[in-house]
Amino acid sequence: MWDFTKLRRTPRSRWPFSGAQEENLVKAGVVCVASGKGGVGKSIIASNLACMRAAAGERVCLVDFDAGLANAHLLLGLTPRYDFGSVLDGEVTPEGALVEGPAGVKVLSGGVGRARLANPTRRELGKLFGALRSLEESHDLLIIDHGAGLGYAVIAHLAAASSFLLVTNPEVTALSDAYAVFKRAETVNPGIRAGVVINRAEDREVAFEAYQRLSAVSKRFLGRDLELAGWVPADLEVPRSVRARTPLTLSGYETPAAAGLRSLASWDGLARAHTGAHFYDRARSALR
Ligand SMILES: Nc1ncnc2c1ncn2[C@@H]1O[C@H](COP(=O)(O)OP(=O)(O)OP(=O)(O)O)[C@@H](O)[C@H]1O
Ligand SMILES: [Mg+2]
Repeated sequence: MWDFTKLRRTPRSRWPFSGAQEENLVKAGVVCVASGKGGVGKSIIASNLACMRAAAGERVCLVDFDAGLANAHLLLGLTPRYDFGSVLDGEVTPEGALVEGPAGVKVLSGGVGRARLANPTRRELGKLFGALRSLEESHDLLIIDHGAGLGYAVIAHLAAASSFLLVTNPEVTALSDAYAVFKRAETVNPGIRAGVVINRAEDREVAFEAYQRLSAVSKRFLGRDLELAGWVPADLEVPRSVRARTPLTLSGYETPAAAGLRSLASWDGLARAHTGAHFYDRARSALR
C-alpha cells in the first residue's frame, strides 16, 4: 500500500503542538474563520494563525473570502497584484494569484471595492469554488477569513467544513450574533465542530463567562455543547501590529494577545480539518 506521508513535502507532524494526523494527507485541511458581528477580530486571528502554522513548516494558504472588502493582505504588509476577480475572469489561475507573505504563508486576496466581488451570483461563486479546489492539492492547510454574517459564501463554506472557528467578543450583541451563525451552521451541516474564540476579553474570567453563556444557549436550544478553542485578551499591541502591518505573533514581542493567539494555533480542530471529499466540491454542491 502507498505510504502517502512520503508524498508530503512538509509533514503535518512538524507542527509541534498538533496531534499529528496522517489521514487525507494528499489534500489540505480547511478551517473557516467566521463571526456574526463585524469587527470582532476574524482577520487578526486568521492572519496570525496562518503565519504561525506556516512558520512551523506547513504549506498554508490564507484565503481572504471577505470578497470585495478584503483586508487580510494589509495586515500582512502585502500588495497583491491579483485577486478573486482576476481568477473569475480567467486572467490567472488561483496559484498564479497567490502572493507570498511572512513565514512563507500564501495569500489569495478577495479584492477590494468591486461590487461584483462583494455580491457574487451563485454561478460566479460556483465558478470560484471550482477554481479554488486546486489550492487543496498544493497546500496542507487553507485558512478562510470570512466577512461577518451569513452571506451565501459563508453558508456554503460552513456546509462543507468539518470544523470552523467562531469568533466573538464578550459583549452580549456579539454573542447573540455568534449563536445565530452557529445555529445556521448546525442546520446546514449537523454535527459541525465549532471552536469558539473569545477575542478582546478583559481577562480570563470574562472570556470564560462569555463562552459559558454561548455554550449554555447552544445546549439549551440546539442540544449542542460548544467547545472553547481559545481566548485572546484585549491588548493595545494588536492595533499597533495593524499599523505596523506585521502579524503580532511574528513581531517577537511576547504580549498577552500574542500568547493567546499562540495557544489558539494548537487547537486540535486545525489538525482535524480534513473533509474526506474535496472541500470545494462539497461547497459547490451546497450552492445548489
Ligand atoms: N485582541 C485585541 N485587542 C485589541 N484590539 C483588537 C484585538 N483584536 C482585534 N482588535 C482590533 O479590532 C480591529 C478589527 O479586527 P479585525 O479586522 O480582525 O476584525 P474582523 O472581524 O476581521 O472585521 P470584519 O468583520 O470587518 O472583517 C483590528 O484592526 C484591531 O485593531
Ligand atoms: Mg476581517
